[in-house]
Amino acid sequence: MEIQKQLKSHGAWIGKWTFILAATGSAVGLGNIWGFPYKAGTNGGGAFVLIYLACILMIGVPIMIGEIILGRSSGNSPINAMRRMALASNTSSSWQIIGWSGITAGILILSFYSVIAGICFNYILISATSSGAMSASDQFSEVISSPLNLLFWHTLFMVMTALIVSAGIKDGIGRMVKILMPMLGLLMIFMVVYSMINGNFSQAMSFLFAPDFSNVDANTFLQAMGQAFFSLSLGMGSIMAYGAYMPKDQNVVNTSFTVASLDTLVAVLAGLAIFPIIFAFNLEPGTGPGLVFVSMLTAFNQMTFGWLIGPLFFTLLSIAALSSSISLLEPGVAFLSEEGYLSRKMAAELLSLFIWILGFGSALSFNIWSDFNLTPGRNFLDSMDFIANQILLPLGGMLIAIFVGWFMKEQIIKDELGQINPTVFKLWKFFIRFIAPFSVAFVFVSQFF
Ligand code: PFF
Repeated sequence: MEIQKQLKSHGAWIGKWTFILAATGSAVGLGNIWGFPYKAGTNGGGAFVLIYLACILMIGVPIMIGEIILGRSSGNSPINAMRRMALASNTSSSWQIIGWSGITAGILILSFYSVIAGICFNYILISATSSGAMSASDQFSEVISSPLNLLFWHTLFMVMTALIVSAGIKDGIGRMVKILMPMLGLLMIFMVVYSMINGNFSQAMSFLFAPDFSNVDANTFLQAMGQAFFSLSLGMGSIMAYGAYMPKDQNVVNTSFTVASLDTLVAVLAGLAIFPIIFAFNLEPGTGPGLVFVSMLTAFNQMTFGWLIGPLFFTLLSIAALSSSISLLEPGVAFLSEEGYLSRKMAAELLSLFIWILGFGSALSFNIWSDFNLTPGRNFLDSMDFIANQILLPLGGMLIAIFVGWFMKEQIIKDELGQINPTVFKLWKFFIRFIAPFSVAFVFVSQFF
């Protein structure tokens, strides 16, 4: 029978904390430190934050629990995990489409994520050496107008990602997250304390936490939900793939809450590191994607220790990006290598090469291809972002919720959840069956009107 097919094993996380570190590393990334503050900034601050929190709790956490259950019960990469679980639940193996869509989304996201992460690498250097003679917005234009410059940093980032993933679960990803995550935590705390002392902290607090609903519209919900999916790395199998390496005695529900809380905490802390500085230097909070590259550099240029604080800030961003990019690559690499045709190393190299080349399109969309639209009204990078984040992730998340909520054999779920409070179980079941799929479907469809 198909289900008996022998697949290569990938090994497992050693120790209880490794899954939490790896999943938090995946979740905490550019989405938290670059995306969340600027989206909160352009969507009216506190109101966006509240809607975002509701999405995390009502949609994100239930789906994360579902993804971990799928990954751990099968022990496979998302495509084979879905096929195995569908067959074990006596339903169609076509559910593996979730795995295929996830791996595609991972490839598309990583191709532009790496270009932006490359800009973060570049800014470690720029913020250390910038004299302030050139304005931060001219500086940003200079960075993105050079294809060679963008490609150089994109290459460096992709090589680092490929090296870590090719070294495997225990010696590559597992080992790296144990180094990167404590560094990220320390840098984050340092940045917030620095902003508290030197920035306009009270204005930042009221901006982030005093909700102003006057600007809220359907688009705010769409943005908040998309951000919740992206930030928790859901809907594309990263968490499923990592779940496959999670020890059986670890509690799935508690772990999911821990990862979601840490991810949210970092997003809020990033806001508390950035906005006090923005307000202290009388800069605009709602400038959009340029918030960290233009506004923050303007501030670093004017600060006494800007040459030191700036590089620390961009190192923080780069570390966060690297611990996420490895989780974008892992599902595809796990699939290619578990089928037995390619070694993990070979799979990581080939897939990275492909993603690296795809990334050229995004790098060039900042300069020589800026007028070229791949999908109507969207340049190359925006198209990758749109297809992955606005289409594949919500669809993937919705299908995962439907499969786990309606089709998966109850006994497999119960075995994975272990000893669980019956009320918690009922609540989760209700959210994964009804709230998550319907709200995703609603928000997803409304974006086209
Ligand atoms: N969660 C990451 C971030 O917030 O930057 C991005 C990401 C990683 C998205 C892994 C999706 C994923 F599977």
